[in-house]
Amino acid sequence: MLYALARPLLFALDPETAHNAALKFAGLAGLFAAKPPACPVRVMGLDFPNPVGLAAGLDKHAEHVEALASLGFGFLELGGVTPRPQPGNPRPRLFRIPEAQAIINRYGLNSIGVDAFVANLRKSKTIIGVNIGKNKDTPNEKAADDYEICLEKLYPQVDYVTLNVSSPNTVGLRDLQSAEALTALVSRVKKRREQLREQHGRNVALALKIAPDLDEAALLDIASVALRAGIDGIVATNTTVSREGIEHLPASSESGGLSGAPLRKRATAVIAKLRRALPASVAIIGVGGIASAADAREKMDAGASLVQLYTALVYRGPGLVGEIVRGLAATAQVR
Ligand SMILES: Cc1cc2nc3c(=O)[nH]c(=O)nc-3n(C[C@H](O)[C@H](O)[C@H](O)COP(=O)(O)O)c2cc1C
Repeated sequence: MLYALARPLLFALDPETAHNAALKFAGLAGLFAAKPPACPVRVMGLDFPNPVGLAAGLDKHAEHVEALASLGFGFLELGGVTPRPQPGNPRPRLFRIPEAQAIINRYGLNSIGVDAFVANLRKSKTIIGVNIGKNKDTPNEKAADDYEICLEKLYPQVDYVTLNVSSPNTVGLRDLQSAEALTALVSRVKKRREQLREQHGRNVALALKIAPDLDEAALLDIASVALRAGIDGIVATNTTVSREGIEHLPASSESGGLSGAPLRKRATAVIAKLRRALPASVAIIGVGGIASAADAREKMDAGASLVQLYTALVYRGPGLVGEIVRGLAATAQVR
């Protein structure tokens, strides 16, 4: 209701300004949000109060944790964060496509850097994952150093970390998804995680976030690298470089990653293929175009144990979180 009133005002602003304004009001919306029913799941060794999470990119700097948690999410994936601060691409870099319930973004991993990010993180009862990436000017041969730095600095305060090798807006980043590069990266980070587990006496789960634009062979390669390395989960998927379904709309010519409704089926197909290639010990976190409980259920039926959303929040407002959790809890009882 509150969002129905605020939306025309927000949509009159340029998208990035509106985004920042909306986040400032998330806490207020949380005060009015009905607490969603419990719908507990245990995934990657963690106990989630419900399976509906916030996708990476909405709270890039860990500035709104409590406000976002109050909306009823079962977990939050914060970031993407990089070791050193970087500005990302010049504005405009966020484009709303309301006709398609979609967004194109080319933020380019703008980040305050991991030190400032850690300073923003407060102890929270919410399950916190952090999406980590490499700096734009770090060559791929040195990428593992960047992921290790982020993991190390975040380790005491987070529940899981997602290695983002799939943002389309950092040149060369997605090359890290090739079998050879991924094996090198994941084995280094995994080894570091074992040392940190020893040092801190607690486990932080490791996930890998992949693109929706990989062919079957590349997906199978990723599944086998993840399995061999003992990755805990795969976040499928990031935004797509495809413009299928929005070719007729003027914004389709903007470069960047497309999210929202046009991504939904593509992401679900990736989840289904991964699920067939992986044992249940590797969790799948399904993301891409979820805008209802039925969409979330579609991802879970394809093999996801947890889901995340971002773009639909922009169009539907924060009440959507509770709506999806309630819908999933209701169908879980019937099943
Ligand atoms: C503006 C924007 C920024 C994003 N930033 C990141 C990011 O930093 N790291 C990442 O892994 N994914 C990022 N994503 C991708 C989302 O986490 C998600 O995978 C994608 O948007 C698909 O979900 P959706 O259709 O529910 O939005 C971003 C998405 C958007 C729209």
